[in-house]
Amino acid sequence: MFSRLWACIKRHRRKLFVFGTFIGGSWILYRLIWRKIRQIREEEDRQYLNFVKRQHHFESNQRTCNMTVLAMIPNLRETLVKTLDTESIKELLKTNPPNKLDLWEELKIMSVTRSLAAVYGTCMLSVMLRVQLNIVGGYFYLDSIHPANGLNVEGSYKSTIPQKVQERYLSLVKQFIDQGLVDFIHFLRLAVTKEIGCLSLKELISLDNLTSILDHIRERVECGVDKPTQSLYPYLLTSEQVPDISSVPSPEDALLERLVGETRDILESADFHTVLKESVDRGYHCVLDTVAEHYKEQLSPEDSNSRIHDVSIAVAKLIPVINSIMLKICADAPNQFVQELLLMEELKQLAANVYEAFSQEQYNKPRV
Ligand SMILES: *[C@@H]1O[C@H](CO)[C@@H](O)[C@H](O)[C@H]1NC(C)=O
Ligand SMILES: *[C@@H]1O[C@H](CO)[C@@H](O)[C@H](O)[C@H]1NC(C)=O
Repeated sequence: MFSRLWACIKRHRRKLFVFGTFIGGSWILYRLIWRKIRQIREEEDRQYLNFVKRQHHFESNQRTCNMTVLAMIPNLRETLVKTLDTESIKELLKTNPPNKLDLWEELKIMSVTRSLAAVYGTCMLSVMLRVQLNIVGGYFYLDSIHPANGLNVEGSYKSTIPQKVQERYLSLVKQFIDQGLVDFIHFLRLAVTKEIGCLSLKELISLDNLTSILDHIRERVECGVDKPTQSLYPYLLTSEQVPDISSVPSPEDALLERLVGETRDILESADFHTVLKESVDRGYHCVLDTVAEHYKEQLSPEDSNSRIHDVSIAVAKLIPVINSIMLKICADAPNQFVQELLLMEELKQLAANVYEAFSQEQYNKPRV
């Protein structure tokens, strides 16, 4: 019986051999495929986790941006109040001085300049901060997934961007508020003076008149060659903020210079100007809406046919209304205008793009 089986095996040796190889080969192949699947799954899980982590980082970064913008508004307001001090002119006017008319003229220019400077300042601040914090946020995310990659400063603090550099980089926003904005106000004031310098205080103007005056001022301010808000960019990032490179730069200076360069690239991009322009549009709307409220109050309630566009108001009467707009635009939280800026879809998109670019692993990290 046993010998018969043996004879059978001998007879079908070849077939069995092929069959066995087939089974074994399949088994190895099966193992290979299974291993591959597991690798793919693990990789997917890892990518998914990184995606969730990155998303989480991004969201919390946007909250930080929101809070930072709101926290900087009082500083902005302070610069505006100091640089365009309409209060002391109003005080002077109360004493009925001989140069009353000159003071009124000065008040006219200052009030318009101040409310528009509030618009530009708030918009520039909110977009600039969004860019800066998302660049830094991108680097932080990379640090969080590769903790050992960073620059080792003083043997303890490990981060791609050491704290000192972060502080210097973010202080650019403070420099904008303290210096860039002041320079911008002088520039804006010239444009305002050219448009309304000759406008008599007694002149009666309609809401449409005011709209076209503001349009003209805006044209003068934003007479950029290709991008409309291009003229604002030099005030956001002045060149002297780049560290002196004539001496041997320290690694920190080099890193800061690199960050500033990266920021500059974004500030020069068309996307940045699209968002800034959209913000400024909303700012001008806010100014006009506020003045329109005042025009509406002048409508006589008896006459149902009276239309807001038929109302005309003397320039002198509009000055206090325009002057107070700055306090609305630069109000502390809850600030409706800033809220509107922070909610802008275009701003969110810009933030997401910047963050995306700077949190990519293949992104060229600073070498110091
Ligand atoms: C930022 O503020 C806006 C307006 O308040 C809000 O809609 C948005 O959700 C905030 N973003 C985050 C991430 O908190
Ligand atoms: C106001 O608008 C009217 C009608 O367009 C125009 O005739 C008038 O000159 C404008 N006034 C000022 C001060 O611009």
